[in-house]
Amino acid sequence: MRLSCTVNGRRRVADDVWEGESLLYVLRERLGLAGAKDGCSQGECGACSVQLDGRLVAACLVPAATAAGCGITTVEGLIEHDGSPSDVQRALARTDVQCGFCLPGMAMTVHDLLEGNHAPTELETRQALCGNLCRCSGYRGVLDAVQELVDERAARTAELEAEADRRAADEWETDPGAAPGAHRTDPNTPGGEA
Ligand code: FES
Ligand code: FES
Repeated sequence: MRLSCTVNGRRRVADDVWEGESLLYVLRERLGLAGAKDGCSQGECGACSVQLDGRLVAACLVPAATAAGCGITTVEGLIEHDGSPSDVQRALARTDVQCGFCLPGMAMTVHDLLEGNHAPTELETRQALCGNLCRCSGYRGVLDAVQELVDERAARTAELEAEADRRAADEWETDPGAAPGAHRTDPNTPGGEA
C-alpha cells in the first residue's frame, strides 16, 4: 500500500506499507523520523506521542493506513525555521534529565497542552503528562520547566504589547491625524467631520 500524508508541513509518501503497520513504524523506519520513540508499542508510555490532525496520539496505536491524507506533527516539526529548538524543547532540555528517552514525547505533550491552554495550572500540566512515563528523572523538573515556559511566554507577549502601544503613541504624536478615529464622521454635522 502507498501511504501519503503531510508530515511537519511537507508531503511525504511511503511505499510498501503493510496494512497492519503502525504510524510509529512508518515515521521511524520508512520516513527516517526517529524523534518519536518506541518505548512500549502498546500505548502505555507516551514516548511515541505525535499530533495527528492537531490531536495528540500515541503513534504506536495508530494504524498507518488511517493516517492517509492527514497532517502529522512530530517532535522534529517543533524546531524553529532557523533550525534552533523550540522554547518547549529548550525548557525541557534545561531540566536535570538523565537518559532523555521520554523527552520527545513530553515535548509533544507540553506543546499540545500549551496550544490549547496558555496558562495551565500545575494540576492541568500533571493531567496532560499522565500518559508520559519517565523512568529515571521524575516529573518535578518538567513541571517547573512548563511553569517557567508559561512565565517566559507571558513576559514576551507583554513586552510585544507594550512595544506596539509605544509605537502607536509615537505615531500619534508625530501625526495626530493618523490616530485611530481621528477622521471619524460626526453624526451631528451633516457631511462633516468630528
Ligand atoms: S511506544 Fe507508544 S505509548 Fe509507548
Ligand atoms: S529521563 Fe530517562 S525515561 Fe525520562
